Amino acid sequence: MRPTIIAGNWKMYKTVDESVSFVKELSPKVSEASSEIFIGVPFTAIHPVVEASRGTNLVIGAQNMNDATEGAFTGEIAASMLLEAGAQFVIIGHSERRHIFGESDQFIQKKLARAFTDGLRPILCIGEKLEEREANETENVLRNQLTECLRGFSSDQLKSLIVAYEPVWAIGTGKTATPEIAQEAHAFTRKVLEDLFGAEVASRTPILYGGSVKPDNVQSLMKQSDIDGVLVGGASLTVESFEKIVNFDSQVGSVGTA
Ligand code: PGA
Repeated sequence: MRPTIIAGNWKMYKTVDESVSFVKELSPKVSEASSEIFIGVPFTAIHPVVEASRGTNLVIGAQNMNDATEGAFTGEIAASMLLEAGAQFVIIGHSERRHIFGESDQFIQKKLARAFTDGLRPILCIGEKLEEREANETENVLRNQLTECLRGFSSDQLKSLIVAYEPVWAIGTGKTATPEIAQEAHAFTRKVLEDLFGAEVASRTPILYGGSVKPDNVQSLMKQSDIDGVLVGGASLTVESFEKIVNFDSQVGSVGTA
């Protein structure tokens, strides 16, 4: 059985004060959630938010890191520094990192290697651009990203891996993939994991959907058999909407599904 994971990605939003107030307000509202709750916060907020969420079910992480252990890399941050601050996971290869900051699959592979070695749980993001979908290239793009980013790892190393399918055309645009489109891409992603690492890895790896997830579309996405959770940007920024997403299964309609 795969866990359900609801992950927030705050991107470059929230000061330390805003971050701490958010988790203090959120935590009592989601204490009964059936899903694991992850929040990727800005670097400066990791330590204070970890302190403020002690004893809660919130898992705090980072949105990026470098693959080196240390060195002359101005502006970068090492996995050991994130761990020391209390981060338990890291988002790697987000489409904004790939497309705004030019990160390649090869660089992402090195970051994953560092995360696996140092014990930081990675959320690897993959996804096609609009022109790639329109050119019928979605499956090739996903297969390539997975093959290159996961090159050289053993199934044992991949135990902590989480994958997030985030179609670039759906991120921050208000255009969510329909549950059917998302399910199709997730099933394909799982098939590629099976081709590369076998059925066991494919069936245990959580695959999250990301791209304009909102309180009113989370339920239909979560009903899909290969969607194990969501990675939420914009709608993770207010307690009101993130709480609704986290508690998506405790609303009307859950009768008989427990
Ligand atoms: P969005 O972002 O929910 O604002 O579309 C998702 C993401 O970038 O992870």
